[in-house]
Formats: sequence, C-alpha cells, structure tokens
Amino acid sequence: EGNKLWGGRFVGSIDPIMEMFNSSVSYDKRMWSADIRGSQAYVKGLEKAGLVNKSEMEEIVTGLDKIHEEWSQGTFVLSKDDEDIHTANERRLKELIGDTAGKLHTGRSRNDQVVTDMRLWLRDSCSTLYIHLIRLIRTMVDRAAIEVDILFPGYTHMQRAQPIRWSHWILSHTVALCRDAERLGEIKKRINVLPLGSGAIAGNPLGVDRELLRRELNFDSLSLNSMDATSERDFIAEFLFWASLCMTHLSKMSEDLIIYSTKEFSFVTLSDSYSTGSSLMPQKKNPDSLELIRSKAGRVFGRCSGFLMTLKGLPSTYNKDLQEDKEAMFDVYDTISAVLQVASGVISTLQINKEAMENALSPDMLATDIAYYLVKKGMPFRQAHGLSGKAVQLAESKGISVNKLSLEDLKSISSLFSSDVSKVWNYTNSVEQYTAAGGTAKSSVVAQVEQLRTWMKNH
Ligand code: ARG
Repeated sequence: EGNKLWGGRFVGSIDPIMEMFNSSVSYDKRMWSADIRGSQAYVKGLEKAGLVNKSEMEEIVTGLDKIHEEWSQGTFVLSKDDEDIHTANERRLKELIGDTAGKLHTGRSRNDQVVTDMRLWLRDSCSTLYIHLIRLIRTMVDRAAIEVDILFPGYTHMQRAQPIRWSHWILSHTVALCRDAERLGEIKKRINVLPLGSGAIAGNPLGVDRELLRRELNFDSLSLNSMDATSERDFIAEFLFWASLCMTHLSKMSEDLIIYSTKEFSFVTLSDSYSTGSSLMPQKKNPDSLELIRSKAGRVFGRCSGFLMTLKGLPSTYNKDLQEDKEAMFDVYDTISAVLQVASGVISTLQINKEAMENALSPDMLATDIAYYLVKKGMPFRQAHGLSGKAVQLAESKGISVNKLSLEDLKSISSLFSSDVSKVWNYTNSVEQYTAAGGTAKSSVVAQVEQLRTWMKNH
C-alpha cells in the first residue's frame, strides 16, 4: 500500500488481520510526547550535519510543535495506516508541512527511534514512581514514629515468637521499600543512555553528532554499539524485575495486614475507603485493597517472566518480537503506580487496635527471656534453653501458663531461679532488652526512625 512508510518494494495490500496484528499504535501512542522530542532533537542533528538547512529545520520543529499541541488537546486523529506512533507522527508532519517532512527520518530508523522513545518515557515514568514510593515510605516512617510504644506479637512460621514493637513491624517493611527506591535510582542510570544515531543496525552514516543529540535530550551517556543499542532491552527487563521485587515486598506487607485485620486477630481495621462489602453477607467488610495489591504482584511477575521469554530466543539486533516490550512496560507501570498510591492510602488511614495487639501477647512468648534470665546468672545458653523448655512443659502439664509457675516449681528446674524472676513476666521489659542496633527496644526503633529520616533527606 502506497501509504506505508516502507511501501516502496511492496505490491498489493496487507491482509487486514495482519495489519491489526502488526499495529502497535493503540498502545505506543502513549509515547507521543517522547517521540516528538526525539524527532526535534534529531532534526537539529541533521541541521548540524548539513542535511537540512536552518529554515527546513525550523519548519520541522514547528510542525512537530503543532503535532504536540494536537496530542495534548486530544485532537490528533489517527489514520488507518498509522502502524505505530512513529509512523503516525511522521504522516501528520507531512500533512502539515509537506515534503520537507520527508527529510526528518534521514539516517534514522524506527529501531533507534523506538528505543529512544521508550527510554525517554520510562525515565520520566520512573521519576513518578519514585515520588509515589517515597511518599509511601514517609507515611510508614511517620506512623512508626508515632506508634512506637505499642507492643504486639511477632511471628515466625506464623507461630507466636517474641513480643515486638508494632513500629518495628512497620519499619521492617519500610526498609525493603527503601532498597527498592535505591534500586530504582540505580536502574535509572542505565535507562538514561541514548541510542539515537544508531540507525537500523550499522550506525549513522551522515555524520550526525550524537553528543549534540545527547545534550538536547538530556541523556547521561551514549550507547556504545549500534547493534546492541537498537536491540538491547535490558533496561526494560530490569524495570520489570525491579517492579516484581517491589511488588513482592508490598504483597508480603499486604498479607500480614490481611491476617491482622481478621476478627480473630483484630490488630488493625482498614478504612472503609479501602475496603468493600459483600453482595450477599451484610456484615462483611473485605480488605480488597490489600488483596488486589497481593494479586497484582502475580500480574507484574507474569509481565516480567513473559517478556524474558520473548527475549530468550532472539538472534542479534532488532526483531519485531521486541514490539512486545511496550505492553509489558506500560502495564507494569500502570499497575505499580496504582499499587503504590493505594498502599499509601491504606497505611495512612489504617486504624490500629492497641488493646487487641497487647492482649494477644502471652507469657509463653517470654520463654526465650527465661533462658536469658538463666544466662545472666551464668548458665551456658544451650543449657538455659533446655531448662526454659522444661518450665514451659511443666506449666503445660499443670494446665497453667508459664508465668504462673511458683518459685518452688522453677527452683525444682534450676537453683538459679530466685524471686527476681518476676521481672521476666513483663512484655515491656522483654522488648527493652533488644537495644543492639536494629532491635526492637524503644531506643533502637527510634534510632531506626531517625536513620530513615536521614535517608529520606538524601532521597
Ligand atoms: N513499532 C515498532 C516497535 O515497537 C517500531 C520499530 C519497528 N522497526 C522495524 N524495523 N519494523 O518495535
């Protein structure tokens, strides 16, 4: 078909199903702005190389400005022959300025164009995600600072383990998100490498100054090899993996909160704004926000592994398979962008039930403390662990909780027990032992909050 960018060597028309199958404009039009920016920079490169004169350059830049306006006003009309955003913008440019438009693509290929667009798009999008992520981190740190005095059970294997501060739990999830923010900053460096000027495979034969393109588009560096530049999608794979890992963290936190929000636990109550009801059971209030976060993790992993499958069998350089990168990128961006915002909302509106949390603590969770008590009296830890276990067993056989054992009972287990053992049966005393950095003592948790606040100042 005569209207195709590549129509010259073709006879007859493309099968309509094939045309639909091949078309990416329905989704890659999201990069309209990046595409225009890239073209405006490129035509400046062409001018410097003497391939267009100043007035042609200005004509093209102005035409592209007009197209920019059409897109932002929502008046750009796609035509049936627009295969992708690149062909759409170039077709429109020709309509607006005539044959001069045909000079824009000199020495350029959609292969270097599309990956330039994607890097521009993803670079800006990562900045947005970064802001959402930092907001979530701040919300969590603020809660942790305020609620530092609340104790509740810590679990390992989902079994009652040791008393901890509620804030310690919050911060345990926060630090994972801080690593995600750092990782996002690191992948941004590798996103911000300019491939433009690599052509289809071999490079640019017209002396285009790629350094000028880099400056125009504000990239950190130039891609090193044109074959690699036009086809490597490491930056997409890294983004998808980054999102997958971040989603793992958010899914884990959601899972904890879903359990904590059950009537059986009642540690937390989700705001109505982030819950939904049942169409059948009037009493229900379901933590759908958290369930959706948990489920979206699966969706994001799917995008990541799916795209890696696309990459794995490819030969060198550009193949149309790579067109699949965009839906993965957009979908993961949209998903995690919503997830981060919902997570901030859930956390900032979460109601916590201090009584339920503290009532859920039980003396058996202090068995480790009994062992430490004996250690402090000089007993080797291994032996102390065994004797503390004996105390738990004795209490169980008597049908009482371990703190109700008499001093005689305890003395029958070890002569090192004396009346000061009563201090062990106190949850605050228990958490306050963990003063080493990173522990759950108040001083330690406050120090974590302070460290994270410093971190936030630098991020
Ligand atoms: N829409 C294409 C993509 O997303 C643009 C690149 C097409 N290049 C080509 N040689 N057919 O990958």
